[in-house]
Amino acid sequence: MQTSKFKSLFNLAVINKECIRTVAVASTATKTENLKPWKEIPGPNSLPIIGQLHHFTFGGTFANTEDAELVTKLINLYGPIVRIDSIFGKPPLLFLSDPESTAVVLRSENWFPVRPGFPSLEYYRKDYKKSKGINVHATGLISDHGEVWKEFRSTVNPVMLQPKTIKLYTTVLDEVAQDMIVRMRANRDENNMITKDFDKEMNLWALESIATVALGCRLNCFERNLPADSPEWQLIQCVHDLFIIANEMDFKPNLWRLFPTPLFKKAMKLYEHHENLTKYFLKKGKENLKNKTDTEKGVLEKLLEINEEAAHIMASDMLFAGVDTAANTVTATLYLLAKNPEKQAKLREEIMSNSERRPYLRACIKESLRVMPVVSGNARKTTKTYNILGYEVPKDVDVVFAHREMSLMDKHYPRANEYIPERWLAKKGDPLYYGDTHPFVYGPFGFGARSCIGRRIAELEMDTFVARLIENFQVEWFGPPPKTVQQALNYIKGPYNFVFKDIK
Ligand code: HEM
Repeated sequence: MQTSKFKSLFNLAVINKECIRTVAVASTATKTENLKPWKEIPGPNSLPIIGQLHHFTFGGTFANTEDAELVTKLINLYGPIVRIDSIFGKPPLLFLSDPESTAVVLRSENWFPVRPGFPSLEYYRKDYKKSKGINVHATGLISDHGEVWKEFRSTVNPVMLQPKTIKLYTTVLDEVAQDMIVRMRANRDENNMITKDFDKEMNLWALESIATVALGCRLNCFERNLPADSPEWQLIQCVHDLFIIANEMDFKPNLWRLFPTPLFKKAMKLYEHHENLTKYFLKKGKENLKNKTDTEKGVLEKLLEINEEAAHIMASDMLFAGVDTAANTVTATLYLLAKNPEKQAKLREEIMSNSERRPYLRACIKESLRVMPVVSGNARKTTKTYNILGYEVPKDVDVVFAHREMSLMDKHYPRANEYIPERWLAKKGDPLYYGDTHPFVYGPFGFGARSCIGRRIAELEMDTFVARLIENFQVEWFGPPPKTVQQALNYIKGPYNFVFKDIK
């Protein structure tokens, strides 16, 4: 493992410079005298002993915590700052839908940013494995914080974020996209629909795509006779189950922090299964490298050059974070293009022109991440006391920045609920010009030093696949809009009323 602190800090400074958008931020971030106390922050009222729990359980106003509109409801009821008290060892939570306060916290927490999110995975990778006698230094970007995270992130940044390295995957990702189109054609019924397991089909595409990067080889997930108990299907199911279980354990009040509940035991088994599957596929990838003929080094080779552990940790995080995210974003984009046929026609025209530059395609995906984002918001744990909108927000609070809700407010984006990719291409002076919006309203890939390390890979994957889809199919949708369920990520649920008509 590369340990040079100077090199690490240098790499991080470069990334910070690249990621931080220049925003004038109020300098009162940490001035905390004369502030209203935490308890006065608006939020559901508290009862003795159970606190606010009754609001989130049986019959309470927010009982359905999987409702994607939950945060919208909280904001509508309580305003731009909403307090949820600590419960069962889960830290206190603050929902923020004020872009300036969002900027203050995100920029102040950008040196050692702590992103709360998957404490159960963190527990597995650190404490559970330790209890089995396995001691590890770095556990991964999703689960590490502080110095360990910074050192690992600085080591992998140059590999994961280098445009030249990512570009190497253009051809293989296009092969994956074209193979998926063939599979979709074969899977359509007589009405040109793919009603059965459309979500799993999209996950299959995303897994095949990210595997080319993480494992350096094709998994051949599209093989027609792939047995249901094959490692490929097991991995797809496992990644999906992980997000659902993480939602139960990490995002809802849950007793696992106090004692090992049955769900906790199930989660530990699932995380172990994911780790073993990653090892299995990594071995396959390394064997493949032996037969490689071209000289350009890809992500896996470069990570293996750092060391085997780095390659394994990164592959594990990529297979965890890179499947459902990309799959649901493509589904959202397809739905929005189906509902806006004139935008779809415009996109097809751009694709058919075979021009190397495809700005409208980029805009279509950017706009779908605004209207139907797979990640609702970002989060940071406070490492000091803040003045937020006149309230004292102490250290160790998990602050959630409600990007989805802010992005859908007309005061931030004109005609905010409409799908208008043109807003990302509009010039200064145009009422739709995105540059007039506060830059901390929208943040689908997070912020700064801790932002999504897979962003460039995800964008290349999604651009390539959406382009092939629109080139090959006229996509239509009938019936009511799909339901979105919030389970750590925003999942678009069936029935999937897409119609894929061949383009003549
Ligand atoms: C549409 C696709 C994707 C979206 C919307 C997305 C979004 C995000 C967001 C919001 C974060 C949190 C950033 C922050 O805290 O500031 C994140 C982190 C991360 N993402 Fe992605 N992601 C996507 C695809 C991917 C892919 C394909 C990979 C695999 C290479 C990936 C790997 C990661 C990792 C490892 C982190 C943790 C980074 C860190 O903490 O240092 N993501 N992503």
